[in-house]
Amino acid sequence: MLNNPGVYVHFPWCIKKCPYCDFNSHPLKDDVDQQRYLDSLLEDWQDQSASIFAHADNQKALESGFKTVFFGGGTPSLFRPQLMAKLLQKLPLATDAEVTMEANPGTQEYTNFEHYLGAGINRLSIGAQSFQNSQLAKLGRVHNCDETVAAVAKAKAAGFTNINIDLMWGLPGQTLEDALFDLTSAIALSPQHISWYQLTIEAKTEFAKRPPLLPIDGILAEIENKGNELLEAEGYSRYEISAYARDSAYCQHNINYWSFGDYVGLGAGAHGKISGRPNILRTQKASQPRLYQGEPAKTSYQTVLDEQLPLEFMMNALRLIDGTEQQTFTQTTGLAWQNIEKQWSELVAQGLVKADRCSTTELGLRYLDTVLERFVN
Ligand SMILES: C[S@@+](CC[C@H](N)C(=O)[O-])C[C@H]1O[C@@H](n2cnc3c(N)ncnc32)[C@H](O)[C@@H]1O
Ligand code: SF4
Repeated sequence: MLNNPGVYVHFPWCIKKCPYCDFNSHPLKDDVDQQRYLDSLLEDWQDQSASIFAHADNQKALESGFKTVFFGGGTPSLFRPQLMAKLLQKLPLATDAEVTMEANPGTQEYTNFEHYLGAGINRLSIGAQSFQNSQLAKLGRVHNCDETVAAVAKAKAAGFTNINIDLMWGLPGQTLEDALFDLTSAIALSPQHISWYQLTIEAKTEFAKRPPLLPIDGILAEIENKGNELLEAEGYSRYEISAYARDSAYCQHNINYWSFGDYVGLGAGAHGKISGRPNILRTQKASQPRLYQGEPAKTSYQTVLDEQLPLEFMMNALRLIDGTEQQTFTQTTGLAWQNIEKQWSELVAQGLVKADRCSTTELGLRYLDTVLERFVN
């Protein structure tokens, strides 16, 4: 296992399914048996940790504990803070571990933000998406703008000092002014971090079946350029394609993914990645909550083949604006840089990547798909 591993914990339920969402989330029908889900997570952890700790090098990598935990969903904030606390007590964590939870405005978590903090969660990611009620309605969200503003205020009052706001852009019928209004409204709440995702229409979603009218390319380009300028001017520096942070409040959990680090995946549909000798393994849990809870200790393992590694590494590392050092490629994949030297030199000659770092140029970032194609075997 590589150093600084993280843990991802998935909560697969939401109040209702949003029409653009292809995450493993299921609309709540009745009350979820929260204790049963916790028991499943604990059994899942017990089983995966037994195989992880069976290897001496993993024990070494975990000597000072997991560096990050991410409670994602779905809607983890539908769950009682006591449940998060019980799971966190079982995980060996570094003393300064970053522990994030996604929180949806308009869910029942409002009253107990301080309890989440007490449970050991020290970073909140609040799913605002937009600050226009008409837009939120088109996105099928259960909350309105006032609820987002209230959620951020309550999180701050509870003592959270590391808050992310998720926004999307390129939304149905969105103008440049609408997009900048959303950003300005988020910035006015002074979060440490803003994630600003371009809406993508994912297969098998409601939006794929009944596509909404999206802004034309010219408007999208304007939104992207002006939005980046606004964020930078307000002190949010872009460190990944969609991630912006003030005062270096980068999301350590995601940086670990983008640096091709290791992580354990717990919960329905969760993925994990564990490097070992000689192979890198991907883990996956059953997606359906019913199946997962029926057999929480069942984990599928898949070996990442050597020929897949360059593309997998680049798909992550090149999302980072500064990329990584070239030696990170060797440290995480076990492959020598010479394996990709030829493609890399050609991309350097085309002005798409840098010569001395595993990083794109500005041009390469704009044409990332073209860059990545060079690593498809
Ligand atoms: C795991 S998701 C959902 C978190 C939380 N349940 C919520 O909806 O607020 C994390 C973020 O991905 C973004 N996202 C989800 N679907 C997307 C899509 N189709 N295109 C772009 N961004 C998307 C949203 O900003 C969302 O907050
Ligand atoms: S609340 Fe979040 S995870 Fe749930 S359906 Fe909507 S976008 Fe997906």
